[in-house]
Amino acid sequence: MPLTMFDFMPDTDTPKPLLYAALARSAAALVEGERDPVANMANVAALIWMSVPRLNWAGFYRALDGELVLGPFIGKPACIRIPLGKGVCGTAAALGSTQIVPDVHAFAGHIACDAASRSELVVPVLVGGCVVAIIDLDSPEPGRFDEEDAAGIEMLAGVVARFL
Ligand code: SME
Repeated sequence: MPLTMFDFMPDTDTPKPLLYAALARSAAALVEGERDPVANMANVAALIWMSVPRLNWAGFYRALDGELVLGPFIGKPACIRIPLGKGVCGTAAALGSTQIVPDVHAFAGHIACDAASRSELVVPVLVGGCVVAIIDLDSPEPGRFDEEDAAGIEMLAGVVARFL
């Protein structure tokens, strides 16, 4: 049987640093050479979904004209526009810093797109110091995301930033 482009994906019980290193390599291989940002975000969202266990939503919001606009994702339909500074995503975009939220119900202003979400990780994608997008991961499991997840998705954001 012929190999497909996804056969090099790690098992989901792989230690997080190895899993995220493999994810970043896979993402680089997919986006390099393609200039269409929607295609690249769609493939990276799918890679995250395949690689990172225990998620109920994974995808992008783009920073456009002073607000976040929904981009390619896997999960339930989501809020389309989020003002900067609002919710976990808008906070990450406004501050330009990663947000790890162990309990979304305890985050003032959390925007609930899927009632199943219990914890969330949002990482800004920076180009030249400017936030061009954010990567949002939601989990149905409280406290799902830690510093290793944040570091891994930050590495991914760095790899794909110029291709969005
Ligand atoms: N929970 C996010 C909104 C986006 S959805 O989770 C996909 C927030 O508070 O910004």
